[in-house]
Amino acid sequence: MKPVSVGLLGLGTVGCGTLNVLARNADEIRRRAGRSIEVRRAVARDLKRRRAADLSGIALSDNPDDVVNDAGIDVVVELFGGLDPAHGLILRAIDNGKHVVTANKALIADYGQEIFEAAQRRGVMVAFEAAVAGGIPIVKAVREGLSGNRIDRLVGIINGTTNFILTQIRDKQRSFADALAEAQLLGYAEADPAFDVNGIDAAHKLTIIAATAFGIPLQFGNVHIEGLADMDSRDVLYAGELDCRIKHLAIAKRTRGGIELRVHPTLIRGDSMLANVEGVMNAVMVDGDAAGPTLYYGAGAGAEPTASAVVADLIDVVRALTSDPENRVPHLAFQPGALSDVPVLDIGDVVTAYYLRLQVKDEPGVLAAITRVLGDLNISIEAVMQKETSGDGKPVPLVLMTYPVRERDMNEAVDRIRALDSVDDKVVRIRVEPLHGEACGERA
Ligand code: NDP
Ligand code: HSE
Repeated sequence: MKPVSVGLLGLGTVGCGTLNVLARNADEIRRRAGRSIEVRRAVARDLKRRRAADLSGIALSDNPDDVVNDAGIDVVVELFGGLDPAHGLILRAIDNGKHVVTANKALIADYGQEIFEAAQRRGVMVAFEAAVAGGIPIVKAVREGLSGNRIDRLVGIINGTTNFILTQIRDKQRSFADALAEAQLLGYAEADPAFDVNGIDAAHKLTIIAATAFGIPLQFGNVHIEGLADMDSRDVLYAGELDCRIKHLAIAKRTRGGIELRVHPTLIRGDSMLANVEGVMNAVMVDGDAAGPTLYYGAGAGAEPTASAVVADLIDVVRALTSDPENRVPHLAFQPGALSDVPVLDIGDVVTAYYLRLQVKDEPGVLAAITRVLGDLNISIEAVMQKETSGDGKPVPLVLMTYPVRERDMNEAVDRIRALDSVDDKVVRIRVEPLHGEACGERA
């Protein structure tokens, strides 16, 4: 059978990884797909740059039109990243009747609805497994493997760069900047690493996977996002003393009031499986009503782990080439006309326990004043850790663990605590997530 012709947009980390995997596993891939998959054209900005892949036999260009307008290309693999020009190119490729594979989570989170509708109309496929959690086939697992379940919660470490940074700070006492520089060198970080560090990349991925899990529209604008900007190595240390770890989590949860969509540093029990996901590894825990909790673990970034997902999508596309478009797996798991309009819960209504770290004057009556503020707002304290004494009334750190409280009430409490003369203005607060059973701090 005639090989399937691929046009590759991008020869960076993932583009070269994809070429290498396609070349190394060509025979296995052909046996799985039923046809050979051949990259005929590839596009990059700088055609003189040395690439980490064998480009022989591939027509190179710095003009993406050479791929999307070539009638001989069956599948366009978009690995440029970013919104522009990727958005227009993908729409044009679809318009030209080409199937699309992309690793671009920003694009799918922001423009997925438009892209999927265009693909539906044209009868072509758009596959995006590599957009979420690198080498972990989480989109496939949620969309197909768990399609018999009502999914109630999804909690994941879905940004490799931030997990790598947190692990380096904790285990190797490296500085934030140093760890980020290495993540960039290893090809984990986004072109603009602020997307990783500020939680935006994880929010893009959460947008996609939550839509797939709950059958809701893609709605990046409704995700509550906090990054690692306020991370302090003292909190990493104190979390350890509470037998907990701080992880940058993405959480999607079905509650009575609506769906929670949030990305933020989170305290979890140190003996939970997610707490022990280190370095660039990612993991996603999914609670289904029938399957119960399931956990998916693997490399969340990097050339070949991501290429693994890109190539799997290519094989899926090739296998489905002759299928009736109406009978293909829906892009976001649910039939396009069957999306739910369940609201996303305002972050002020989200209920979680809290870790609070305050700088307080080392003098009598300070703790009583703080507990009075919390008590007035019906916030119960789970544990208190006074870290040091200064002996001379100078500020010392005080750590409090609370029971679950509505975010709005915690905001009010923090405002009132910061107004106390004996407390410094900066109050660190980290949400606590119980994974299964006890929450962090319940044994402290
Ligand atoms: P890179 O920056 O390494 O590669 C991007 C490639 O696209 C480069 O070859 C670049 O050319 C080319 N390119 C970009 N814009 C243009 C343009 N306008 N015209 C021509 N060529 C262009 O990115 P990655 O490979 O790391 O990431 C690609 C995509 O995969 C992104 O969407 C990213 O979010 C996603 N992803 C990345 C992962 C990773 O671990 N890196 C993991 C999962 C997803 P040149 O080299 O000449 O500059
Ligand atoms: N920058 C992303 C990360 C790449 O670090 O997870 C994988 O999506």
